[in-house]
Amino acid sequence: MAAVTLNIEPLDATFGAWIRDIELRSIDDATFESLHEAWLEYALLIFPDQFLTNDEQDAFAERFGNLEFSAAPISNVSKDGKVHHDAGDDLVKSLKGNWGWHHDSTYMPLQAKGAVFTAELVPADGADTGWADMRAAYEALPAADRELVHSLEAHHSLYYSQGRMGLLPRRRDDGSYGMYGYHDMDVSLRSLVKVHPDTGRPNLLIGRHAHDIVGMDPAESEALLDRLNAEACVPPRVYQHAWTAGEAVIWDNRRLMHQGVPFDMTQPRKMWHTRIAGEPESELALNHSAESLRFRHERDALLNSGG
Ligand SMILES: [Fe+2]
Repeated sequence: MAAVTLNIEPLDATFGAWIRDIELRSIDDATFESLHEAWLEYALLIFPDQFLTNDEQDAFAERFGNLEFSAAPISNVSKDGKVHHDAGDDLVKSLKGNWGWHHDSTYMPLQAKGAVFTAELVPADGADTGWADMRAAYEALPAADRELVHSLEAHHSLYYSQGRMGLLPRRRDDGSYGMYGYHDMDVSLRSLVKVHPDTGRPNLLIGRHAHDIVGMDPAESEALLDRLNAEACVPPRVYQHAWTAGEAVIWDNRRLMHQGVPFDMTQPRKMWHTRIAGEPESELALNHSAESLRFRHERDALLNSGG
């Protein structure tokens, strides 16, 4: 297939690029191939002036893989038009949780591959989104830390991340939280170093959902993860995006973390998020299949060979 030349403008960071002069709602296969290649290289692609419908957004995301879920509102405005801003409101708690650095769905058995995110209504005071490059963070680790993290595995849980911030929702009558991600399956266990299944490059896999490293005292584990998160998410490995309505982005959730930036929640904000499912061969938690254990062994072999 003939390669299509894209108008790529890299960000001033270790990752990320603007892609201009393209209409995502009508790309052909050759353009997709070039976009996919750029996505693996830059991990975050930003497309101005798209104004995608939910169906168009989902169709674009589906080119990259099966969907974990189709276009869902990430918004403080509910269907009835109410703007949610009270600290005790479950929707507000859920949105505020996103203000900590994370990879999506590491708390699920299957980590997400990526996401398409679009801006419909942007408040005047910002409500930016940040991304951070965990491949560059891994590569910047001092030798002692790199050696340390190679052997470590952490649990990933939304109960932990929301609970630590005092942002758990109210329980329903049956005792459950009844919201996405609060499952009763085994708590997902994941290596602190991931080898990217498409590029073969290692990156840190950390973020707010990670807790209780296997074999480590809980306080020591928390301190180590807090330090790794803090040291990872600094320039030139971070980019903060100020949204304009109509923009679309797609990011690689295997390599990047992201966070929402706090904003005045009395102002309405409406974003749409389509989550692309991870491929089981590489994104299943270690304790959720024999297949993922095989992947861990391959990962170990690669890391031990100096990757
Ligand atoms: Fe997220």
